[in-house]
Amino acid sequence: MTLPSKQDRVLIFDTTLRDGEQAPGATMTHEEKLEIAEMLDEMGVDIIEAGFPIASEGDFFAVSEIAKRTQNAVICGLARASVKDIDRCWEAVKHSQRPRIHTFIGTSPLHRQIPNLTMDQAAEMIHDSVSHARNLCDDVQWSPMDATRTEHDYLARVVEIAIKAGATTINIPDTVGYTAPRESADLIRMLIERVPGADEIVFATHCHDDLGMATANALAAVEAGARQIESTINGLGERAGNTALEEVVMALKVRNDILPYRTGVDSTKIMNISRRVAQVSGFPVQFNKAIVGKNAFAHESGIHQDGVLKNPQNFEIMRPEDIGLASTNLVMGKHSGRAALRAKLKDLGYELADNQLVDVFVRFKELADRKKEVFDEDLIALMGEGSTAADRIKVKFLRVICGTEAPQSADLTLTIDGVDTQVTQTGDGPVDASFNAIKALFPHSAKLNLYQVHAVTEGTDAQATVTVRMEEGGKIVTGTSSDTDTVVASAKAYVNALNNLIVRREKTKPEAV
Ligand code: KIV
Ligand code: ZN
Repeated sequence: MTLPSKQDRVLIFDTTLRDGEQAPGATMTHEEKLEIAEMLDEMGVDIIEAGFPIASEGDFFAVSEIAKRTQNAVICGLARASVKDIDRCWEAVKHSQRPRIHTFIGTSPLHRQIPNLTMDQAAEMIHDSVSHARNLCDDVQWSPMDATRTEHDYLARVVEIAIKAGATTINIPDTVGYTAPRESADLIRMLIERVPGADEIVFATHCHDDLGMATANALAAVEAGARQIESTINGLGERAGNTALEEVVMALKVRNDILPYRTGVDSTKIMNISRRVAQVSGFPVQFNKAIVGKNAFAHESGIHQDGVLKNPQNFEIMRPEDIGLASTNLVMGKHSGRAALRAKLKDLGYELADNQLVDVFVRFKELADRKKEVFDEDLIALMGEGSTAADRIKVKFLRVICGTEAPQSADLTLTIDGVDTQVTQTGDGPVDASFNAIKALFPHSAKLNLYQVHAVTEGTDAQATVTVRMEEGGKIVTGTSSDTDTVVASAKAYVNALNNLIVRREKTKPEAV
């Protein structure tokens, strides 16, 4: 996959399942990773970084399965500069029709210091690791971690070593989100001009958003000759996250007049994958997020509404349909049948098998009985329910007493491994009482890090989506649930997080990452 810097096609490399999943608490289940990989493949992403195979058995298994199942995209795995890492990575990606090994090492003065390497020692490791990877795989990507804080002479030297050792893509990471657009472009230009063999390989740009410049930095790098953008859905990632895939794809589409580059991504699939990643990662998209935020196409002020009605282009630079946002929001209700539900879900990007539809239809009817109008957002929340039939813990019954008179209490029955157990506990409010009851029935030492509630739609009968994040011995897990009763949603979200924790406990403890 060589794309010399003069061509106008830009490769989109998605790392939602690797760098995105490194966001604390964004852990996805195996099935969720397969689903997201399939969606990425269908939308035309060129390369999917599916995980870090040596990090855990779970990561290895996920990368292998994605490699086996994916039809179009290159499947890439990450590896440090060691034979053990690279071999493990190859064992996972080799099942792909188009495998890639991505190996990296820190090259800046600060990052060389972490393993206490001299410049020469790091250079030797780069040569050895890239050569080893290339002996296994024809497609090798190499990254000098913290490239934007690396001495230019040294960066040019090690990039040349990596190219000579067989790297086919050189990725330039702005690991700590420190660079700015002009500098990002100058760095790529400097490498293309100085490094022998630079015109034979693809330069990639990998930006973090600590200063809010990730998208601008990535696009500036492209203008300077980079032909691969590394990004994640919703900009998910450590700290302030990575370049958001939807932003670079739409910027290249909408401003093709001044950014004359093409991607292979079908932008109409953006909204669905954005929603799904938000659900499975437990990281909701902020309302005013570019492209995929709830308000990105909402016009509140009278002047704007009037202008948009006269001509959408007055205030919209892209159409909602361009990102797959249905322009109508047909309301469903308790009289809607199975066929209507199936059609509606298909519009929203969910293709269900008959047995799945049976289950969703039951839950839809339950919701429609409690709520007069079921909006798209309600159905999306319903589809995002974290619980599955395989869960070891389920909420069977919950009744709370709350109000101005303390103590508030919760009477709870959980089904744990098929057996019902009941308890009544008090707490500081009904949610606290419910959580205390869960702890009494399923004792654990996990600490609650986040409890977040947001209304799915407007109105007092709106569903609440609750997100819970907890930590146990460095393992961070998230749980979500939606219900018209906020306390029920809270208890179910907590139980969902506990079920995810049980799965995490069963995974092998990761090596240092
Ligand atoms: O940000 C970074 O430096 C990375 C590398 C592993 C490519 O994610
Ligand atoms: Zn990164």
